[in-house]
Amino acid sequence: MDDPPSPTFYHKKKQTSILFFKKKVINSEGMRVDALLARYGYCTRRGAPALLRDGRVRKRDGTSVTVPGQQVNVAEVLIDGVEVPFPQGICVALHKPLGYVCSHAEEEGGKPVFKLLPAEWARRNPCVQCVGRLDKNTTGLLLLSDDGNFVHGLTSPRRHVKKVYSFETSEPISEDAVALFASGKFMLKGEKTPCLPAKLERTDSTHGKITLEEGRYHQVRRMLAAVGAPVTKLHRESFGPLRLSALKLAPGKWCSIDPSAFCHHEEK
Ligand code: URA
Repeated sequence: MDDPPSPTFYHKKKQTSILFFKKKVINSEGMRVDALLARYGYCTRRGAPALLRDGRVRKRDGTSVTVPGQQVNVAEVLIDGVEVPFPQGICVALHKPLGYVCSHAEEEGGKPVFKLLPAEWARRNPCVQCVGRLDKNTTGLLLLSDDGNFVHGLTSPRRHVKKVYSFETSEPISEDAVALFASGKFMLKGEKTPCLPAKLERTDSTHGKITLEEGRYHQVRRMLAAVGAPVTKLHRESFGPLRLSALKLAPGKWCSIDPSAFCHHEEK
């Protein structure tokens, strides 16, 4: 299986994202099989002896692995006959459907988005997390990864990674909102710093797109509500260079993505 690089982010002046890679090599020298099973979410370390006793772990050469302390390499083991997926880390794009929440627990009556991914991924250590959040009633492109640097690098407002949302509102949006949101002076209620400049494009009086470079709590809904246009539909079309339409994912479906798509990506 390919060995995807882990991007390391650093901030080089304003508007520049992610620039170089540090190759992450996991488990190339082998590790205890009980630790490996726990790391990849197949069981807890305590639960490993039972799984091994049941003969569920083998090497590619056909020999079975039964001793919890046995040293193995992730590339050589098969669990229930299947290799460990994404041994070097997970980075996926999901088309988040309506009604799902970006949390490991059920919240506000919504199902966790993690239920749309293989069950053992949520038990990996480090675990898979959302790159920023979409609310329960927002659909669209959601990234998930188990690489903390990747998640942090894409969510920091200092990176200026652009996210484009399309929306519908129940009331007309005034022309003035365009300049107000672009000004860099627009304050959300209860916040201490103004929002970064945001690009609002109206397609008609109640529809349009908005491009944000940060991700505050319910930001699009709060911004539009503040100008008298409550949001009735919200959908994230793109995240940095990734466009959901290009990925061709139906709601609820995911695909793995190459994190290097975010490297050398200059935000315009
Ligand atoms: N802004 C919102 O209000 N909700 C989202 O889910 C994302 C951005």
